[in-house]
Amino acid sequence: MTRLKKNFPRRPLVAGNWKMHRTASDTKNLIEDIVQRVQKIANVDMVVCPPFTSLAVAAETLGRHSVLAIGAQNMHQAKEGAFTGEVSGTMLRDLGVRYVILGHSERRHFFNETDTGVAAKATIAVSYLLRPIVCVGETLAQREAKETMAVVEAQLRGSLQGFPKEKLAELVIAYEPVWAIGTGKVATPKQANDVHHKIRAILTDLFGPEGANLRILYGGSVKPENSAALMAENDIDGFLVGGASLDARSFFNIIESARPVRASEND
Ligand code: 13P
Repeated sequence: MTRLKKNFPRRPLVAGNWKMHRTASDTKNLIEDIVQRVQKIANVDMVVCPPFTSLAVAAETLGRHSVLAIGAQNMHQAKEGAFTGEVSGTMLRDLGVRYVILGHSERRHFFNETDTGVAAKATIAVSYLLRPIVCVGETLAQREAKETMAVVEAQLRGSLQGFPKEKLAELVIAYEPVWAIGTGKVATPKQANDVHHKIRAILTDLFGPEGANLRILYGGSVKPENSAALMAENDIDGFLVGGASLDARSFFNIIESARPVRASEND
């Protein structure tokens, strides 16, 4: 595969968000299939985020030193307590979970998650040694009204309120335009990179020069057919993949397109 060359100032990260797909019984096979394909890939952080009910099976299947890390799709900010139906960061950590997606647009829209709530979760997550993947993104109406940058900026600042600067290296941001999620309408590389560039500027404003080193993932209809072109953009450091992460081959091909190219490979 010929990839477009760029410098890789940050280690790429590709995470698969399984959303509410796959039973615990189905999880083992899919994880094994993915691991078999990706085990020789170096220099890319790879994460699978199955539903809560599959996390234990995923951890058991992967063992301790796997190339694939495990992420959860949400968590509650309290350590424990009377919160029926919720799962805490300590519970996730105990299973061997390393990442947690926070503030996904589906959680914001269907479950009324707010920037303030996401900020509380992000700060608690790092205290449990979980790496938050904080999601932001505009709706189609907001893009058409030319509000994209303002919306993303407000979400980002709100969702990172109070985030401890000393834990900055643990933080990952995902830009997921709502109109591109599950629709087959991917953002163009330029559309995505423009927003990533803005996000990087806001992170620098919030945290100083270290903020510029954070990884910013793109999510929204990422497929093997469009991932290389997106990855060629300077401010795109990897992907948060929905549908295509449920197919081991597609997920592998997306990861492969995010792998830094050695100078000799394309020649
Ligand atoms: P799709 O890749 O299915 O569009 O989903 C993107 C997403 O929401 C990942 O979190």
